[in-house]
Amino acid sequence: MRRTSCVLIVLAAVGCTAVAGETIEVRSPGGTLTVTFSIRDGHPTYAVHRQGTAVVQPSRMGFRLQEGPALDRDLKIVSSDTRDVDRTWEQVWGEQRMIRDHHRELTVRLAEASGPAKQLEVTFRVFDDGVGFRYHIPAQSGLDRIAITDEVTAFELAGDHRSWWIPGQDANRYEYRYTDGPVSEIKQVHTPVTFETGEGLYISIHEAALTDFAAMTLQRTAGTTLKAELVPWSDGILVRGQVPMTSPWRTIQVADTPGGLVTSYLILNLNEPNRLKDTDWIKPGKYVGIWWEMHLDKSTWGSGPRHGATTANTRRYIDFAARHGFDGVLVEGWNIGWDGNWPANGDKFNFTEPYPDFDLPGLAEYARERGVRLIGHHETAAGIQNYERQMEDAFALYQRLGVRAVKTGYVAHGQNIAWTDENGQTHKEWHHGQFMVRHYRKVVETAARYQIMLDVHEPIKDTGLRRTYPNMMTREGASGQEYNAWGGRNRNLPDHTTILPFTRMLSGPMDFTPGIFDVLFEEYRPDERVSTTVAKQLALYVIIYSPLHMAADLPENYEARPEPFQFIKDVPTDWTETRVLNARIGDYVTIARKDRNSDDWFVGSITDEQARTLEIRLDFLDPGRRYKATIYRDGPGADWDSNPHPVAIERQDVTADSTLTLPLAAGGGTAIRLERVKG
Ligand code: NOJ
Ligand code: CA
Repeated sequence: MRRTSCVLIVLAAVGCTAVAGETIEVRSPGGTLTVTFSIRDGHPTYAVHRQGTAVVQPSRMGFRLQEGPALDRDLKIVSSDTRDVDRTWEQVWGEQRMIRDHHRELTVRLAEASGPAKQLEVTFRVFDDGVGFRYHIPAQSGLDRIAITDEVTAFELAGDHRSWWIPGQDANRYEYRYTDGPVSEIKQVHTPVTFETGEGLYISIHEAALTDFAAMTLQRTAGTTLKAELVPWSDGILVRGQVPMTSPWRTIQVADTPGGLVTSYLILNLNEPNRLKDTDWIKPGKYVGIWWEMHLDKSTWGSGPRHGATTANTRRYIDFAARHGFDGVLVEGWNIGWDGNWPANGDKFNFTEPYPDFDLPGLAEYARERGVRLIGHHETAAGIQNYERQMEDAFALYQRLGVRAVKTGYVAHGQNIAWTDENGQTHKEWHHGQFMVRHYRKVVETAARYQIMLDVHEPIKDTGLRRTYPNMMTREGASGQEYNAWGGRNRNLPDHTTILPFTRMLSGPMDFTPGIFDVLFEEYRPDERVSTTVAKQLALYVIIYSPLHMAADLPENYEARPEPFQFIKDVPTDWTETRVLNARIGDYVTIARKDRNSDDWFVGSITDEQARTLEIRLDFLDPGRRYKATIYRDGPGADWDSNPHPVAIERQDVTADSTLTLPLAAGGGTAIRLERVKG
């Protein structure tokens, strides 16, 4: 690591590229991206270029506080530093084992131009695949506890790009289908938000290391300018804290292919290294569960004659999991609190007391004896104080029983997460404000102390915290499979999963719960359906990265189709390497991943409602080696709408010189296992 100090006019040879007056320019290590920081009329601004093309035009930065100085005006540069970093680190688990963190960092110290009073620091990390910047409000006289009332950060996009987004701060959290339209039609959006420019660049704006701040949404303020709109507390304050205070990183990833965004690890690079000393207990894997049957209304979460979480039913799932080599069995509806209108009764859930027809210790043991573990479930209905009061006991109980993973849930709509302060006053918060960001992080830290991995539904968006807390495995945070069970006109359309890899998935793993074989489930909900072929359901195990992947369908549907089920049994959830072989956002995508525990590769390829034929070269395979390919593709006449079920399975010998032709049905897909032949 080289540190170069460049106080204003001093020009260091390589480190900080250019300092002229109130302008500093920094280039990424390979020279692809340039960030220009400048003071314009006292306002800090930044701009980003990629090989001479404007990505972000000069855009304002800084904060406004409820009391105290405005941290966005009347500023001058006091000093700046750059340093070069090039290090490679290993993920405990992930879509890519080794990650290179290669960037040039610039820290600029700012102070009040007309006096010495206020101070603000901005740090940029400039990579070849993007830029992160964050603010630091140093300890300074006159500032102690602070309340942020505005983040001024803007992203003045250089054109009216095509964009893919979900609405920010709307009732249904992140669970929306994506809108594909020009920037100029955006109102307020969540991040990650993705753009395709006329020059063929792909841009994603998001944030990294959101740990004690409000989530950033983006609001269009004029033309193609988006501005940070932090999700407020119920009293309108955006962020509360104490100086010194550091913001999350604001991130802009830029690539010349859609796949370049997928294999950019900038968000992880901007998070703190792993804080957990012992990680042996953290194990990616696959699970089944008493889950889809409630979404189909075959059984109920609540007690009564159709209760899903009974001892007998759970044994059936454990036996099934053991027979087919699954690691876990999720059981929802096992604990007291589900009766009545549970989404409105977040204060009634009991996280240690099972329903009388569910033998928790007996089942935990029954599972362990068969090499399977129960996966715990904490649906809070966003009754945060009720949950936090019981959280330690609840995790301790699971740890005693050998439960290693817990799925949590925060069903509540809009700004409705109620809590009561010490004066007995009730406040209502969003899922995305600082109140909940703190809660979600507290759960991750508490779970880690009890050696519990987490799968969070209705989460805060992922900003890479899994690097620091690798027990933070996966989360929902998008419209997942459940919408196909009851979503009606909000169900996922065939293009949904061709958009997710370039939007939601850029933030981190998702518990999408793929693998529905009975895509029409006419016996249970004849008016609903999954809008894919079965082969596409298989491909989703590779397309959508999750260290915990569910085989979501009912056991009887898998046992009725053992041949395609074999792919779900074989596909790993922990990878050495990920490659995107082809992609057009919203149309199709093909991803290849190498198993972390063998020499095998797996490929998933999916299309939207258009049938198409894709050719892929297998040049990622080890040269000179033979592989046995098992190809699960759409069978004769397959079509998501009219004939979703046929799957054809073919076997073929291939090498790194082979090319495969993948005919994808409308709404279809292909899943491939490539086993390296020994010797
Ligand atoms: C919503 C979650 O996304 C779903 O997976 C879960 O079954 C229900 N909440 C009940 O907790
Ligand atoms: Ca959900």
